[in-house]
Amino acid sequence: MALEVVVLAAGMGTRMRSAVPKVLHAIGGQPMLRRVLNAATPLAPARVHVVVGMGREQVQAAFTDETLSWVVQTELKGTGHAVTQVLPHLTAGNRVLVLIGDVPLVTTRSLEILINGTAADEVGLMTAVMPDPHGLGRILRDGPRVIGIREQKDASPAEQAIKEINTGIMLVPVDRLAAWLPRLSPNNAQGEYYLTDIIAMAVADNVTVIATSPVDVEETGGINDRVQLAAAERIWQRREAERLMRGGVTLLDPARFDVRGHLEGGQDSVIDVDVVFEGEVTLGSRVRIGAHCYIKNAVIGDNSIVEPNTFIDGAKLGAGVRVGPFARLRPGTELGDRVHIGNFVETKKARLGVGAKANHLAYLGDTSIGGGSNIGAGTITCNYDGMNKHFTEIGNDVFVGSNATLVAPVTLEDGSFVAAGSTITTRVPSQSLAVGRGRQRNIDGWVRPDRRMAEDDDD
Ligand code: UD1
Ligand code: MG
Repeated sequence: MALEVVVLAAGMGTRMRSAVPKVLHAIGGQPMLRRVLNAATPLAPARVHVVVGMGREQVQAAFTDETLSWVVQTELKGTGHAVTQVLPHLTAGNRVLVLIGDVPLVTTRSLEILINGTAADEVGLMTAVMPDPHGLGRILRDGPRVIGIREQKDASPAEQAIKEINTGIMLVPVDRLAAWLPRLSPNNAQGEYYLTDIIAMAVADNVTVIATSPVDVEETGGINDRVQLAAAERIWQRREAERLMRGGVTLLDPARFDVRGHLEGGQDSVIDVDVVFEGEVTLGSRVRIGAHCYIKNAVIGDNSIVEPNTFIDGAKLGAGVRVGPFARLRPGTELGDRVHIGNFVETKKARLGVGAKANHLAYLGDTSIGGGSNIGAGTITCNYDGMNKHFTEIGNDVFVGSNATLVAPVTLEDGSFVAAGSTITTRVPSQSLAVGRGRQRNIDGWVRPDRRMAEDDDD
């Protein structure tokens, strides 16, 4: 008996006041729908069906996973109607786990508790006790037995006082769904086909309804507006912060920490406040990240130090590297062990060998710089001629003096030396000094021009 997953995501989410369908709004840098799918993936479902309706082109375009089965609900007539659209695609004998697209914080662990606690012929329901259950479906019980779900708008005052609510997540045998869904009626306050009405049908058919709790009530909060989205974002970030801290990373303030994607941190790494991590980032051991850095799609080796206000995107740093403050590493940057990149240095498609240094104010683009080389302040690789990008090849142990202009394509061979202020347009042979600048001239007895008369100032 295999498991199939159905995710309900046909609503637009009017209260988001957005041209973007609700399930595409992000939590931790990933669309909510992706978060829901990620929670289900470890359960190894045979198939995952996503019910889409409003804005479905946008939703489908954002998910190129070939394995998803998209089911279109053209008219939104309720959650029961939504699952009815999936019925023809389900396999008899399987079980269906129904997930909600706008409940993105649910964890795999809580889904496992539901699945493991529900026998093959039973119905499982994830419920939670909420201090303020307003707007949610209430769980009706007869003693300990769950006997039904009452939606807020249909509930009597006594039922409205019930604090146990339906999270919307349930587990139902396909054959039972096939029997019950056609019997739903829209005879209720909202005129909708409620999926929740199958609970009373289960009880009438002597099918046991098991109620399980999530690990944490926070997981089941639905997102309806941007205020709830922001609250869910904080919950997500706190969870990620706790995961990293439990794994041996120090966060100087877990409340000022943001991961928009996935971060792996090595032992005894320390992250200062207000650092934003995006995409896939991996830190080695004993890495130190200063305050206010932005780090996207990067690998940073053991013992490296990223000083404050550094921007890193698409870069690979070896061990013992030192970068910043105020450095900008752009895609294609690869720094060997013990490389130093100082303030106001920008790199792009730049490979720097072991121990190379560019400590101040430089642009290093489309270049390979050998180990032990030193790039002086103000040095620029002129990689663009207005039409094409060209490469600058710098060997090992090269010394480039301050304010050098390296006009690509050009090669500086091993051990060569470039005088400060030079414009280099042709190859510099190994072990030679290139001086590419006008010779200094001193004019004797030079008389400074007079300061202009005040009345000329407006000219
Ligand atoms: C639903 C439950 C309620 C539960 C709550 C938890 C029903 C009748 N009620 O109420 O018991 O406490 O969720 O959040 O199921 N959807 C579709 N197609 C539709 C209608 C809805 O795909 O025709 C999707 C929505 O996009 C949403 C989800 O189903 O992701 C839940 O629908 P919503 O209208 O928000 O149901 P609630 O009234 O919140
Ligand atoms: Mg809802």
